[in-house]
Amino acid sequence: MLCADLCSAQLYTELSLLEVIDNADLSKRTSLRLQSHVDRLIRVHHPAELIEAKQALRGPYRGLLGEGSNSVFGSHIRGTLLQVAWRGCERMEAGFIRAKAGEHWDELVQWSLCQDLQGLENLSMIPGTVGAAPIQNIGAYGVELSHYCHAVEATHWDSMTRRRFKADECLFAYRSSIFKKANHQAWIITDVEFHLNESGASPVTASLNYAYPDLQRRFSQQAPSGALELAQAIRDIRASKLPDPHTEPNAGSFFHNPSIPSDAAIALKRRYPELPIYPDGAQHHKLSAAWMIEQCGFRGQRDGDVGVSAKHALVLVNYGLATGEKLLDFAQRLIQAVEAKFGITMSIEPRILLS
Ligand code: EPU
Repeated sequence: MLCADLCSAQLYTELSLLEVIDNADLSKRTSLRLQSHVDRLIRVHHPAELIEAKQALRGPYRGLLGEGSNSVFGSHIRGTLLQVAWRGCERMEAGFIRAKAGEHWDELVQWSLCQDLQGLENLSMIPGTVGAAPIQNIGAYGVELSHYCHAVEATHWDSMTRRRFKADECLFAYRSSIFKKANHQAWIITDVEFHLNESGASPVTASLNYAYPDLQRRFSQQAPSGALELAQAIRDIRASKLPDPHTEPNAGSFFHNPSIPSDAAIALKRRYPELPIYPDGAQHHKLSAAWMIEQCGFRGQRDGDVGVSAKHALVLVNYGLATGEKLLDFAQRLIQAVEAKFGITMSIEPRILLS
């Protein structure tokens, strides 16, 4: 890990002018690379420029674009999207750090590990920006952002007032938060604070960290020597299991793992003993959507330019010049097939904006 190259504490972008791009090509700005244009895209380099950005809208404000790793856009988006481009992260007192919304998530993770701060290692290699991470409460390998998030600062779009949300005010849940539940466009997240474990402190996640089956297998003989080794293991596992968006354009998991009452989950498992199920709170179990999609025969299947990755059944891929509309039609076929076979309705995970 090249610590020196990472977001050294002073990587703040200076105040600069707005970048206004008309008829912006979103295929170049999203990991699914779907054919899509938006009337106007404004890149904002400092929270203070938001007021100016509001005056530069073309048509209605349609929300934010981060790195585009969790969004499905239709062919033509009316109005204006904003892109938050302020970056940097800094250490505060003890194990607290603060990161700017436009920072790359994975760079923040690597920087925090280089600072000898533990906690985010299981969230290594997740694409996207720091500002997008709380919206869907990103999670992987037994850890969610909510475990380490201390506070989120955001600007309210209508009133342009700033608010600090303490973690418990963010209403974090599985791939959800107040920012996802509320009107998507209401808040612009500007900064996120985390409370991480300093070396030597007892990490809350000592047990969580490698309780996940993939990690158990990897560390069955010997526990990881520390967070850096765990982070490397996560990177290896992700690279081996998930398709690379650069070669197979995708948005990660396309569906949530459905959560249903435990008695129904256990009954389903009796019918399908191989179905992976996991406790989700006291009264629910999560079902593996990937497994159900695979059982319906979709893993590795293509229909023209869209398909299901052969590497992972939860990942939909744009193999060429697909549109969002075409991808969503295909997703509906998967939803219907899983519903017909298992009686379970899957829900789509990425943000969808069609027109
Ligand atoms: N499986 C299949 N077929 C497949 C892939 C997986 O049957 O093609 C089964 C396997 O039996 C496996 C089970 O599904 O035991 C679970 O698979 P995996 O470990 O890959 O996790 P997942 O439930 O499919 C979730 C997250 C991922 C996260 C991993 C690891 C959701 C929607 N997805 O996937 O998050 O990386 O766990 O923690 O919760 C994302 O959100 O974009 C994302 C990649």
